Amino acid sequence: MSEQLQRDTRGRLRHLLTLDGIERGILERLLARAARHVRPAGRRPARGTALRGRTVVNLFFEPSTRTRASFTLAARRLGAEVLDFDPEGSSAAKGETLEDTLLNLQAMGADAFVVRHAEPGIHARLARVARPGVAVINAGEANISHPTQGLLDALTIRRCKGKDFARLTVAIVGDILHSRVAASATTALMALGVGELRLVAPPELLPPDSRIRAHRVVNDLDAGVAGCDVVMMLRVQRERLASTGVHVPTGAEYRQRWGLSAERLRRAKPDCIVMHPGPVNRDVELASEVMDGPQSVILDQVANGVAVRMAVLEELLAR
Ligand code: NCD
Repeated sequence: MSEQLQRDTRGRLRHLLTLDGIERGILERLLARAARHVRPAGRRPARGTALRGRTVVNLFFEPSTRTRASFTLAARRLGAEVLDFDPEGSSAAKGETLEDTLLNLQAMGADAFVVRHAEPGIHARLARVARPGVAVINAGEANISHPTQGLLDALTIRRCKGKDFARLTVAIVGDILHSRVAASATTALMALGVGELRLVAPPELLPPDSRIRAHRVVNDLDAGVAGCDVVMMLRVQRERLASTGVHVPTGAEYRQRWGLSAERLRRAKPDCIVMHPGPVNRDVELASEVMDGPQSVILDQVANGVAVRMAVLEELLAR
């Protein structure tokens, strides 16, 4: 449903609500476009003028460090004006619906809304009221999806391992049940034809249904990372545990069973890369020596995030 809603009558993307059902060709075009915006570490970032005169509004109703900053930098580096909407100091606190907030900001000339929210379906609702030509971009929807994160994860793998995803074995490890990152990464990787995708987690942290597609489920970390080209670690989403009533051990106990140490990583291929969407709980799901070690591409993911968001903004707005 969201997939139809995000296309215009000519089939072009006008919103980015989900990666579900998106064509491989569109994914590849976005990744290729994003790849052109990546610069070597330490060099000046890419810039352009494609969004000159445009206004992008950030509407973040959940905490964010990377996503919000990278959307802001992406929009500014393409010449757009960025408005940071603060839900706490706004009329949302006085009972205005988010749809009405969007209509008001749209009346002031906003061209795109970058939205993070804990309520499932809110992005689609906003897309339905947005005027033609005004884009809604999902920057995180509950535990459901996080499309630009899925794209930046795919871009990071592509830049490290090449375009032939069919050769790769990828493990996603940890709290898959509550992870919108896992949901969007698995969708992107399956669409790109990944060779083997493993979900590695205890049974209580796996979705009960077939909400998340993969080739294998592994309930043991040592077996899960064996032979992998890519291992993506996830944070336990403690703020979402109450909603499902799942109990997850804390600190040392979690690390013992589900934390990636340098020793465990040796079971993967020698050139295996280690990913994490951030924020990392250091020495819980990921040992510091791995996080700061040569196989970690976590900060490349962050850099690639800006490039992906530039590509998405261009795709939706630069016509
Ligand atoms: C994630 C998120 O908010 O979904 N962070 C991010 O966007 N890079 C993951 C998390 O909070 O664990």
